[in-house]
Amino acid sequence: MRRLFAIILVCALIASVGVGCKAKTGVVNLGGIFPMTGASATFGTSSKNGVVMAVEEFNAAGGATVDGVKTTINYVNEDDQGAPEVGASAAQKLINQDKVIGIIGAVMSKVTLAAAPIAQAAGVPEISPTSTNAAVTLVGDYIFRACFIDPFQGTVMANYAYNTLGVKTAAVLYDNANDYPKGLAENFKKSFEALGGTIVAYEAFTDEATTVDYKPQLTNIKAANPAFLYLPNYYGGAALQLKQAREMGLNVPAGGGDGWDSPELVAIGGAAVEGGVFSNHFSKDDSSPAVQSFVAAYTAKFGAAPDALAALAYDAAGLFLDAFKNAGSIKGSDIRDAMMNTSFVGISGAYMFDANRNPIKSAVIIKIENGQQTYLTTVNP
Ligand code: PHE
Repeated sequence: MRRLFAIILVCALIASVGVGCKAKTGVVNLGGIFPMTGASATFGTSSKNGVVMAVEEFNAAGGATVDGVKTTINYVNEDDQGAPEVGASAAQKLINQDKVIGIIGAVMSKVTLAAAPIAQAAGVPEISPTSTNAAVTLVGDYIFRACFIDPFQGTVMANYAYNTLGVKTAAVLYDNANDYPKGLAENFKKSFEALGGTIVAYEAFTDEATTVDYKPQLTNIKAANPAFLYLPNYYGGAALQLKQAREMGLNVPAGGGDGWDSPELVAIGGAAVEGGVFSNHFSKDDSSPAVQSFVAAYTAKFGAAPDALAALAYDAAGLFLDAFKNAGSIKGSDIRDAMMNTSFVGISGAYMFDANRNPIKSAVIIKIENGQQTYLTTVNP
């Protein structure tokens, strides 16, 4: 008994100077802000899965070494409900209460735009996997993203419509209460007109989370007789808009942006979304070995193939954790500097940030065929 006590005492003494019986280990919190509930909840589920997978791999590989102490990550996930004010409080909570070393999130540009000023003011690095609105990273030098931006995405679809589909006129219907559709609508319009096309109708509504009837705007659009319908909204709104358009006999080809990426697009829209094309960040059909091994591991773990949200959240978290490891520090400015100098290779491509903390990334174009997402082509910037 006495001997046992003596051994414990010696161990405690040695541990207190940081060597011996068992090496000291540390745990730090990493935060995530995603829409786990509400009209775009599939975005949250996929994104959280991607982060969880990256964190588990990071911890299993030994974590980071901070001041000689092996340090792993505890992941704290917050639900922003797709609402900017909820995302802002989530950022406050993660920073003030959980003392996170960084934030992965949000998905929706409007939510990231509300949370980012809080992270910036606190000097906590934040990386959004998928917020594409151009203004997001302009909030400040602690704000990064893992995806291309909407001026590129709008051009990709304008080119595809004008040159590949050969349409010379288009109509746009977008949510003017949301920075992402608003920006993407403008970017598409500008590019389509620059190519020589005409926007024959440019219609808006306010908030797809509460709008159920798009017939007034669709009536104006039908009267303008467009050859293409561009719907840069999230999947729930886009599916309903297409359903109502088809009911009204507006049967022209339709397209959208990354916000269409959800299994719910087809579940809600059915035959109305068939043939639709949209720009996206990632396709599970990419034959590269890195993508295919990620798809296999993710599917085995979560029971469904990863979408772009899962892939980019995995990359965003992987990039952040790689920078944390390289910095060997929990200080926000050290991690920020390491992120700025990253050469991280994710499954959606190699990362290098420009002066505004935007990476240069390719887009893919996906078509809904027989109710499935089919990869069409990759467009380089
Ligand atoms: N790009 C969208 C935004 O900025 C979010 C999104 C990305 C949605 C990818 C789906 C897929 O709001």
